[in-house]
Amino acid sequence: MLTALLITAIFGTAIYLFQLSLPAEPHHSRHGGFLTSINDIPPLGLGTWLSDRDKVAHAVEYAVGDKRGYRHIDAAAAYKNEDKVGKGIKASGINRKDIWVTSKLWNSDHQRDAAHRAIKKTIDDLSVEYLDLYLMHWPVAFLPDSKDNELDTETTIIDTWRTMEELVRANYTRYIGISNFSPADVETILAACEICPYAHELELHPYLQQQEFVDWHLEHGIKVIAYSPLGNTNPTYDSKLPPLLDDPFWNAMAAIKQATVAQIVLAWGLQRGTVVIPKSVHEKHIEDNLRALEITFSEEEMRRIGDQDRRRRMNDPGRSWGVALFNGLDDPTDLGRGDEL
Ligand SMILES: NC(=O)c1ccc[n+]([C@@H]2O[C@H](COP(=O)([O-])OP(=O)(O)OC[C@H]3O[C@@H](n4cnc5c(N)ncnc54)[C@H](OP(=O)(O)O)[C@@H]3O)[C@@H](O)[C@H]2O)c1
Repeated sequence: MLTALLITAIFGTAIYLFQLSLPAEPHHSRHGGFLTSINDIPPLGLGTWLSDRDKVAHAVEYAVGDKRGYRHIDAAAAYKNEDKVGKGIKASGINRKDIWVTSKLWNSDHQRDAAHRAIKKTIDDLSVEYLDLYLMHWPVAFLPDSKDNELDTETTIIDTWRTMEELVRANYTRYIGISNFSPADVETILAACEICPYAHELELHPYLQQQEFVDWHLEHGIKVIAYSPLGNTNPTYDSKLPPLLDDPFWNAMAAIKQATVAQIVLAWGLQRGTVVIPKSVHEKHIEDNLRALEITFSEEEMRRIGDQDRRRRMNDPGRSWGVALFNGLDDPTDLGRGDEL
């Protein structure tokens, strides 16, 4: 009896001492082949389209820095600044596992070998060992090396999706997704996917709310990333609508919320369950936009905002490519429309 008690005590003490010697539970987890502290896409990220090559490294470093705490960057090969974005990520000193990085496969890289080359270059340029999310930028393939965007009518979106699935299996990216797809295009991918889309990035803002399409994705477990969340604030857009930031409805609402129009527009995007990725290269805007995370609306306010939808799209390269995009959605490409309109 005494011997049994003695053995139990010695054994118990040994286990206790062994447990003390174990390192603390790691904060991050292993997700697929990746060690990461970020399981899901952070709700607010920094956009980088049209971010000046001379300014974007500082913008990224500033956003990711401790005081601001952005943990999500939206990049793309087509923005021609991923090397500078990578400099910003590196300069911030953040651990790779603590930041979410999205990039996108350009139309001329839809063929298998080109796609493999493209993701490797993007990873290299961004100075990350892998991506969190890789999106098919458009459901449109161009012939590789074609200078005038000649369409590749052989490579289908399913072919490209199969290649993107390979990129996940090869650990180049944790997740894959789509961008600028019509409902029929999404259904095509969902019917064929072995690794299914994690997210769909599409144009969404108060002037193009697409609430039903947003809800459909959320019901199907597909995250929705709202691009151009500030609507026609992007100076490249020529929508003929008054600037969203000057809109009287939104200015009145901003006064009620004691915030700027940009902050409350982003807050609305967040409250309806979309991820918002405002672009800025200015410290003040980068900092200001974070306040969107603290602003909420009542149900009545959300309903009134819903009534403000103008169903107007800002970003449609379909006509210049000769492709009818956004079928079944608000403001689809009208291939017959004259340039003057
Ligand atoms: N998947 C796709 O096909 C696709 C298409 C378009 C965009 N995107 C992604 O979505 C991101 C965001 O969209 P976007 O760049 O088109 O437009 P956006 O983020 O809605 O608007 C950007 C414009 O708003 C200004 N801005 C930002 N914060 C502001 C603030 N607090 N007050 C006043 N002005 C402010 C910026 O200027 P400053 O820089 O001067 O602050 C810039 O001119 C892009 O950068 C890109 O990453 C993806």
